[in-house]
Amino acid sequence: MIKYTRVRTVTDLRTHRPALEEAAAALRGGRLVVFATETVYGIGANALDGNAVSGIFTAKGRPQDNPLIVHIHRMEELPPLVREVPLDARRLAERFWPGPLTIILPSSTMVPEEVRAGLDTVAVRMPSHPVARGLLHLAGIPVAAPSANLSGRPSPTTAQHCIADLNGKVDMILDSGKCPLGLESTVVTLAGARPRLLRPGAVTPEELQEVLGELDVDDAVFHAVRDGQAAASPGMKYKHYAPQARMVLVHGGIERYLNYLRECRGEGVYGLVFDEDIERMELPCVSYGKEDHPSSQAERLFSALRKLDELGAKKVYVRAPKTGGVGLAVYNRIVRACAFTEVYLDA
Ligand code: TXA
Ligand code: MG
Repeated sequence: MIKYTRVRTVTDLRTHRPALEEAAAALRGGRLVVFATETVYGIGANALDGNAVSGIFTAKGRPQDNPLIVHIHRMEELPPLVREVPLDARRLAERFWPGPLTIILPSSTMVPEEVRAGLDTVAVRMPSHPVARGLLHLAGIPVAAPSANLSGRPSPTTAQHCIADLNGKVDMILDSGKCPLGLESTVVTLAGARPRLLRPGAVTPEELQEVLGELDVDDAVFHAVRDGQAAASPGMKYKHYAPQARMVLVHGGIERYLNYLRECRGEGVYGLVFDEDIERMELPCVSYGKEDHPSSQAERLFSALRKLDELGAKKVYVRAPKTGGVGLAVYNRIVRACAFTEVYLDA
């Protein structure tokens, strides 16, 4: 059992090289290291060491049937992990790697059972954050890493979020400030008959389509996975990104929203709104970015959800984001945090 977590600042690869080397050695030694990526912080372990990977599940309290993403530093690391590299994977990698895209392919026998959670596929991504890249380079091994939150909590976008969730449960936390994108990577599977989007992210469906020509969008992007229904991506089964409050997603313009909220006031009732709405709000609220600026919403959403927890919110009415481009990823995370409870105010 780990009792003491080392927290090290790594913002400059040259100045902070000793800390990065310490972290790389910890990973090679089978220990757990939390590090920043361009999307969210990840909790990493040597992807080729099944025991090390099991430690991630224990630290997060993660269900055993939810597989992990393997992070690589360069293209040469991909072929040994998968049965083959199809042309579509090569083209996606050329266009979007390093970057916030995860590609699922049939797995080779090299990937331990623990990473795949028993599936015969493996998820791989090449992150672009300089600290993630520096760490992967120095470690010289592929690194399995889910988001560095306790299972069921919003993904962490600062080292403080990781410390709050994982202090004493991991060997090291590297503090590299805020994650620039703020939402987890886009996940696309190439393991079926047609490419399928399993989780929207900063790489948009439109961009994927440009490369792939065709793209199916999994049901779980918009709807709850029903009990007993098999999920293409096991992570989609679980109530994710959830703050402690009950949340309701409210569709409709600001006037109708304000009207609706007049009926909803009470202790512990909050609004989760756009920056522009704050001055008009008649009850306590937290904002999550500008209405017409989905990437500002992506960047701020998870911090806003944690803030609502800190404030002790019991019920939260959320202004619905637009779903174009990156907005689809924002909507997907919010609707899940709301456990798919939605209200439509426009006639
Ligand atoms: O941006 C990200 O992807 C972050 C950073 C740390 O890289 N990682 C991340 O990992 O979000 P995690 O474990 O929180 O989410 C991975 C998602 C889960 O929904 C999981 O079920 C799915 O990817 N997944 C992983 N391997 C899979 C596989 N072989 N088949 C289907 N879904 C898979
Ligand atoms: Mg996660």
